[in-house]
This record gives sequence, structure tokens and C-alpha cells, in this order.
Amino acid sequence: MESISISSSSSLLIPHKSLPKSSFSKVLSISMAKAWSEKSWSLKVRSEAAVDPSISPRVNSVKPSKTVAITDLATSLVQSGVPVIRLAAGEPDFDTPEVIAEAGMKAIRDGYTRYTPNAGTQELRQAICHKLKEENGLDYTPDQIVVSNGAKQAIMQAVVAVCSPGDEVLIPAPFWVSYPEMARLADATPVILPTDISDNFLLKPENLASMLNEKSRLLILCSPSNPTGSVYPKELLDQIADIVRKHPRLLVLSDEIYEHIIYQPAKHTSFASLPGMWERTLTVNGFSKAFAMTGWRLGYIAGPKHFVTACGKIQSQFTSGASSISQKAGVAALGLGYAGGETVAKMVKAFQDRRDFLVKSFGELEGVKISKPQGAFYLFLDFSSYYGSEAEGFGIIDGSDSLCRYLLEKAQVALVPGDAFGDDKCIRISYAASLSTLEAAMLKIKEAISQLRSPVAV
Ligand SMILES: Cc1ncc(COP(=O)(O)O)c(C=O)c1O
Repeated sequence: MESISISSSSSLLIPHKSLPKSSFSKVLSISMAKAWSEKSWSLKVRSEAAVDPSISPRVNSVKPSKTVAITDLATSLVQSGVPVIRLAAGEPDFDTPEVIAEAGMKAIRDGYTRYTPNAGTQELRQAICHKLKEENGLDYTPDQIVVSNGAKQAIMQAVVAVCSPGDEVLIPAPFWVSYPEMARLADATPVILPTDISDNFLLKPENLASMLNEKSRLLILCSPSNPTGSVYPKELLDQIADIVRKHPRLLVLSDEIYEHIIYQPAKHTSFASLPGMWERTLTVNGFSKAFAMTGWRLGYIAGPKHFVTACGKIQSQFTSGASSISQKAGVAALGLGYAGGETVAKMVKAFQDRRDFLVKSFGELEGVKISKPQGAFYLFLDFSSYYGSEAEGFGIIDGSDSLCRYLLEKAQVALVPGDAFGDDKCIRISYAASLSTLEAAMLKIKEAISQLRSPVAV
């Protein structure tokens, strides 16, 4: 309650000018205080209903996540007893390896539970520098690293740090759902560069070249890719670097979070390792995927000190340093050896077996186009030949959204529509699930698809 004084001739219910009329549908409840002075009323105004409901235009420009919507729908179905097979989430189904979890528990037991330096512990940043040198051929010092609460935070901070309002962020599609929204949150403009399944969803250098101008500030590359599993070969990255080199304002954010989940003969190349690219590349990586550490929230950025310090400045006013416990676990993860050693190799082998199973199984479905993924744990399937067909009791399948809703209803399998990733022809299936789960899902998907009636020719 706040006390206000007004003259006895004033109206008691004048809305505050800055508030929209609608806020006053339940107008202020006013209780008059007993106090009376010669010249004024003293009133007690209870203002809990007078809330301005507007949201910042920046946030209003951000799209809500479809991935979250479909996951929520699947979860509510499971809660109401429907046995939905959830293949929508981007998270390994494995537990965090024992030795990593143990390091986290030891940190707690040892009382290593206080704030850490904003940019991350010296121990972890040194371990990251060692990893980047050994595995990626990249030279960084700890002051060129900022550890964050997940790679997601590292990317967001980088976009905010380097983009000015109106700058363009170039994003090859299909893209990870967050990139365009992060650009919008930074008041920058996402510029989508479409790719084609016939090119394994890889960006064509000439398409990139044709879209660059003086506003182009950041190109985001993701290899291995979420959602396609494509891996950029070094030769293609060299061609992209040749174009980037001609544009002094252009930086590259290289999201390498799926680096270790890669299938022979594909090889990972860090963009910053290409001639002349270190100076203009921000390399992002993390622990969530390869080390099955999604809940530990640990990722990092490496780049020229000038840019990375700017990222750290944002973090210092935002979340401060990442969890002390997770950072100890991160040191243990990097201690597993080259590319995570045997521990990670075992998980990668399991992912590869599942990929092979799904590629073969979907290959048996007529009209489905597949680009065999070389990394990550997703399959991005072109189902557009089924669009226009009809399902009894459901209606017309008119795009990836309705196909996923149909498969959720009919097959009880949760997948993510491709339009969330910038390609409505496709749907994404995550194979971070056991082979037996995938086998069960395939049977149900095939059964549901077989019930679709082809579009009637007119
Ligand atoms: C391509 C890509 N980059 C970054 C992230 C963020 O990972 P995290 O914040 O868990 O480290 C994800 C998570 O799904 C991702 O798929």
C-alpha cells in the first residue's frame, strides 16, 4: 500500500497515464484513511491490479520453441497414461560417466561449493586449452576462454557481445532452433541461408557469398549439425573461409558441441584452425552431448581475448561463473583422454548402431528422402512426399507440424517438425534412445504412415 495525497476537489480514480486502459478493468481499490488535514485527503491506494502487462518488443519478437511445445505435449500425454515414445529431445540417454559424476560428488564432499572466478576456474580453463591444442590444433591461453552455464549461454553472450542493432547474423538452414532467436534477442537480424538435402544440407559457398554485405557480422556454423547430423568436410570449410576472409567485419561462430559424436570416415575440423580464421572465429563447445552432462550445465567459448572478454563482461552481470561442482566434473571429463577416450567411444558406437538401424528402416519407407548423418544423434528426414495425404479421423497432413501431430496421436511417437529448424519438408528424430525403443517406434511409425491415403489427383 502506498499513501498519496490529493486535493479534496480531485477525482479519486484517475488512471496513471503510462498504464493502458485495460489495466484498469479491475480498478484500484481505494480505501480512505481517516486522516484529514485542512487541505488534502490522505488516501491508501492498493494498486495490485494496476499492472502494465506489456512485454518488451525484443522478447515479443522471439518465437516460442516448438521443440518445447511438442515435448510438453508428449509429457502431458505420458502423464495421462498414454505410452508415448519420446524421440524429440536433444539429450543423450546415457548417464554421466561414473568418473565424471564422482568428481562432482567429491567437489561437494570437499566443500568446493563456492563462487568461482567469473570466466571459470584456472584449472578447467587450462584443461580446455590443452584439449583445444591436442584435439583441434588451436592455441589459446586461459584468458581467451570463458566457461558458461552450458554452450547455450556461451552462444547467446557471443551474439550479444559482437552484434550491433541491425547487424545481420547468417544462419544456414536447417538450423538449431535457438540461433535465429538469439540474433533477435541481440536486436540483430537473422538471415537464413537455405541448404538442400541433395547437398547433405551443407552450405554452398556461392550462396553465402551472394548474401554478404556491410551489415553481415556473424556467420554461425554448426558441425556436426543439429538437426541434420551433417559434418562439414575441411575442403568445404576452406572454401567458406576464402569468402569470409574478403569481409573484414564478418566473424564466425563455430558451434562444435557435437564434435566427438562423429562417425568414420567423417572428420571434425575446427573452423578457427583454418589459415587466417583464428582471429575472427569464436569456437563454442561444451560437455552436454559427448559426456552426457546436459544437467550439469557446462560449456565454453574460445576466441581472441578482445571478444571473449566482452562475453565475460556480460556473464559477470548475468550469472557469474558456472557451478563450481560442474567445473570439477568438467576437468574429470577432459581427463578421460583424447576425444573422451574409451568412455565416449562406447557411447558413439551405440549412437552409430542406432543411426544405421534408422537409416535402413526409414530407407524402406517409400518416398522418404534421407541424408545419412555423419555425426550428432539426429536424423532429419524429408517426408514432404506425404504432404497432401489424408488420415482418417485426423485430416490432411499439410506440413511437418501436422505430420508430427499425426504421428504423436496415431503412432504415439514424439518427433520434432522440421519447420522449427527452418525446413518444413522434414521432421527430426532423435536417436538418443535404446535400440529396442527405436525398433518399437519404427513399427508404430510405419503402421501410421501406411494408413495415410495419397492425395487425390485433380
Ligand atoms: C547445436 C547446439 N548447440 C548448443 C547447444 C546447447 O547445449 P548446452 O547449453 O546444453 O551446452 C545445443 C543443445 O541442444 C545444440 O544442439
